[in-house]
Amino acid sequence: MTFNPLQERGIPLDRQLRNWRELNVTPIDPDRADPYTRCRIITMNGIEIEAIMFSHHFARRCPDLEVRQRLAEVRYIEAQQQKAVNWLLPGLASVLETTLAYEQVAVDLTAWVARMEPDPYLKQAYQFGVLEDFDHLYRYANLYEMIEHRKAEKIVDRLTEVMPGRPTTMHHRHPADNVREHYNRETTQAISKLHALTIMSAEQQTMNFYMNVGPMYMEPIARQLYQEIGLIEEEHVTHYESLLDPGESWWEQWLNHEYNECYLYHSFMETESDPRIRAIWELHLNMELEHLRIAADLFRQHDGRDPEQLVARELPKPVTFEPNKEYLRELIATQIDYTTLGTGYVQEAHERFQRWQEQLMGGEEPPSERIIDENRAKSGDDYRLETEGTHPLYSLRTH
Ligand SMILES: [Fe+2]
Ligand SMILES: [Fe+2]
Ligand SMILES: [Fe+2]
Ligand SMILES: [Fe+2]
Repeated sequence: MTFNPLQERGIPLDRQLRNWRELNVTPIDPDRADPYTRCRIITMNGIEIEAIMFSHHFARRCPDLEVRQRLAEVRYIEAQQQKAVNWLLPGLASVLETTLAYEQVAVDLTAWVARMEPDPYLKQAYQFGVLEDFDHLYRYANLYEMIEHRKAEKIVDRLTEVMPGRPTTMHHRHPADNVREHYNRETTQAISKLHALTIMSAEQQTMNFYMNVGPMYMEPIARQLYQEIGLIEEEHVTHYESLLDPGESWWEQWLNHEYNECYLYHSFMETESDPRIRAIWELHLNMELEHLRIAADLFRQHDGRDPEQLVARELPKPVTFEPNKEYLRELIATQIDYTTLGTGYVQEAHERFQRWQEQLMGGEEPPSERIIDENRAKSGDDYRLETEGTHPLYSLRTH
């Protein structure tokens, strides 16, 4: 069944405001919820935060009072959507448990996007990044075992494996080497624009989350690990945002943002296992259809082109949370030693990389290495969840 969001009618904007009772959503049960339901919540929170911040930046650059008012009206609804979505997370979960879920999102969403991405250069960017968040999951899982005495399996539930990826210490690159070439807005496929926007938004929220929650811990190793991985998420935002064509007009960017919100809510409505949460995805889809209509009208007026020429005529295949274990094992076996040089990828550590590493490490082990040593000393071994057999690389197996 085809679904063209530009042809569908949503809820009129003046009927989208929710009162306190409607905003007061009941959170998911941390013990019984499908881990991928939690992943969808975390993803949509990142998407709504990007919708809000994009709209603020647009408004700051827009001299037209009427457009600024229109942006404010739509943005207020995005802000309510963000509250409704993020407040589905239960207060019972610890910050570290939510962190493990954030990295599970980064792993399974990015791996899925890498599998589906048609453009080889963009695909490589996702394959490169996913091996790093995969390793973050392993580092945080060891912190979790060490300070909360629990196993990450409680959060990721055997859907995602936990073991070393590209070692976190190797993620600290010279910032200039984090900037990629961008796609061409006129020739790239519509799906590629949606993928880039989705992963950029998810990584941006991860970066924001770590920079805010990191100092909430008392244990020095926890505080330090959040600093280290928080800096890598800054690199990831640079990496992914640079894929988007900076030549897109503000109107075009707004159109792409609203279209992507429609795509993701529709995807999650189609794939959600919890009927109560599914109803929220459906409601938000119906709100987004109206946002898209408004953005498309303003696009026609101010940009002059036809929005139908820019976006997909029908929604692509739904974004799906599912295990990507074999795909990730294959990437580990072939791309673990990659780093970047300029806008490309190389397998050897180059001079600029080395210099950056030496300055940042200051002759010491980084927190991401110390956490493994400390947990081995305390728990007897490092924490792993290898459901498909031993680690694909002999050198990273436990002996
Ligand atoms: Fe939204
Ligand atoms: Fe990460
Ligand atoms: Fe990341
Ligand atoms: Fe929206």
